[in-house]
Amino acid sequence: MSEVISFRPMTVADIDTVLQIEYASFSHPWTRSIFTDSLTSYNCWVMFEGEQQVGHGVIQNIMDEAHLLNLTIKVLSQGRGLGLKLLEYLMQQAQLEGAKDCFLEVRASNQVAYRLYERFGFNEVGRRRDYYPAVGGREDALVMVCPLFD
Ligand SMILES: CC(C)(COP(=O)(O)OP(=O)(O)OC[C@H]1O[C@@H](n2cnc3c(N)ncnc32)[C@H](O)[C@@H]1OP(=O)(O)O)[C@@H](O)C(=O)NCCC(=O)NCCS
Repeated sequence: MSEVISFRPMTVADIDTVLQIEYASFSHPWTRSIFTDSLTSYNCWVMFEGEQQVGHGVIQNIMDEAHLLNLTIKVLSQGRGLGLKLLEYLMQQAQLEGAKDCFLEVRASNQVAYRLYERFGFNEVGRRRDYYPAVGGREDALVMVCPLFD
């Protein structure tokens, strides 16, 4: 039987597990201070499968625009549809806060994330040259946007 999926706002007490998930998933992970600052400035969520913390996401809402700043699923839990569920939940929350569109940047090499965003309804609308630090240099960001409907 599959475990129940749930979401709740991130708190300082969640950050140790958030960092474990983050450091295992990213070549250039967010640090503790970025998450601590985000708790005061943005909407930060954690995702659970049963009792297990399996992911997190961060969104910035500015007027009627949302910006997805972080979306991460624990490595061992990837490839089972949890990323799409987390994205759907975050977009629902952004919409409840009044967002009409959501923007994001994704590394040009991150095909799994790019396909996930496309599957949800994001379209590529631009490219920021050398936006991200990368192993041995810099990497472009692809800018994507998705309209959020009722
Ligand atoms: C990007 C990320 C959040 C996606 O999470 P995820 O849980 O693996 O996403 P999903 O399972 O919904 O989709 C991933 C793949 O699994 C496939 N999948 C989903 N459910 C599946 C299932 N039940 N059985 C088999 N495959 C499945 C999807 O079709 C998708 O395949 P594709 O990439 O070939 O299109 C995750 O890989 C991650 O945390 N990566 C590191 C951090 C990162 O890059 N974040 C995004 C920064 S912009």
